Amino acid sequence: MLVGVLRERANGECRVAATPESVKKLLALGVQVGVETGAGEGARYSDRAYTQAGARVVGASEVFDSDVLLSVRRPDGEQVAAMRPGALLVGFMEPHAGGLDTLAQAGLSALSLELIPRISRAQGMDALSSQANIAGYRAVLEASFHYRRFLPLMMTAAGTAKPSRVVVLGVGVAGLQAIATARRLGAQVEAFDVRPETREQVLSLGAKFIDIDLGESGAGEGGYARELTPEAQRRQQELLGERLQVADIIITTALIPGRLAPVLVPEAVVAGMRAGSVIVDLAAASGGNCPLTEVDRVVEKHGVTLVGFTDYPSRVATDASAFYARNVVNLLALVLRQDAAGTTLVLDTEDEIIAAALAVHAGAVRFAQQT
Ligand code: NAI
Repeated sequence: MLVGVLRERANGECRVAATPESVKKLLALGVQVGVETGAGEGARYSDRAYTQAGARVVGASEVFDSDVLLSVRRPDGEQVAAMRPGALLVGFMEPHAGGLDTLAQAGLSALSLELIPRISRAQGMDALSSQANIAGYRAVLEASFHYRRFLPLMMTAAGTAKPSRVVVLGVGVAGLQAIATARRLGAQVEAFDVRPETREQVLSLGAKFIDIDLGESGAGEGGYARELTPEAQRRQQELLGERLQVADIIITTALIPGRLAPVLVPEAVVAGMRAGSVIVDLAAASGGNCPLTEVDRVVEKHGVTLVGFTDYPSRVATDASAFYARNVVNLLALVLRQDAAGTTLVLDTEDEIIAAALAVHAGAVRFAQQT
């Protein structure tokens, strides 16, 4: 059985779905590995390193002929058309964006990493979390880069600079890492999330929880939030506004999967912030937690810098690829069975993880978009 590692085609994508280290683990699962020429370049993994790890470095046509194809982003139409019917694709298939029927029409199956359930047994395969953690870290560095002051208290012979005030909205995976990173850099950090259980986590990182009463809990199923009622949304904007206006840096990460991001920082709040403040909106790709955010751009509005990048993990491509590749190996270990006759692929939909992640199976779309 041949597992092929695709070179990412999406503009600016530097990650790769396998590293030399993960190649060794794949080989131990009883498969052969073909890596497309130059696939690891953006993440600083050379063709030579893959060869030394035991993979074959091959051209695109040979990779497309694989039984299992690994990618980070969903392959484009041209790539899909070149794949062999019956093959299994593994990667971020962007199920909420639609278009899975193209994969189905090509006779493929697809395990979509966004759909891995957040349960203990699947933690090692949870690529959304491994990448969001990196995004939370990188978001703080991005904010500090655009903020023309120090984050920590700085006492020098030339004067004293006060620590900056950072507010993190949404305390999921990205938010927790943003809090930890901002704290490490010496900022004063406050955070808010609609799920009450996040309060303890915020405090344990040495940050302050913003206590506001929305009149309802936003806790939903599976560790995710649920959408607030319009009345609670209005209260949230009103009650948070005061804390947000005195922040130097706001990092927003609030999300409900498959939905437009909730607006947490309305224009009136931005207009009331001090000139030179920075907002990094991690939810830019889902509409933004601030309506002034522009996707993949840095803009200045009311004297405030708004950063809307959607590719933070790719900006930390070496480690992001290493984490992602481990997630992929763990998922493959669940579907590859080794016996005396060799290695076979078993997509057992009785397994909770496979049932959730198998977005396309043997030419049919299984993923049902929730409205
Ligand atoms: P997550 O689901 O772990 O966290 C989202 C948090 O937002 C949850 O704790 C949820 O309770 C909270 N939330 C939902 N509605 C809220 C509201 N109205 N007020 C306050 N909190 C609210 O998600 P994760 O994995 O941490 O990702 C966070 C965001 O970062 C997502 O939008 C994701 O798409 C984005 N992301 C962006 C990247 C980039 O490069 N820009 C890379 C990776 C993730």
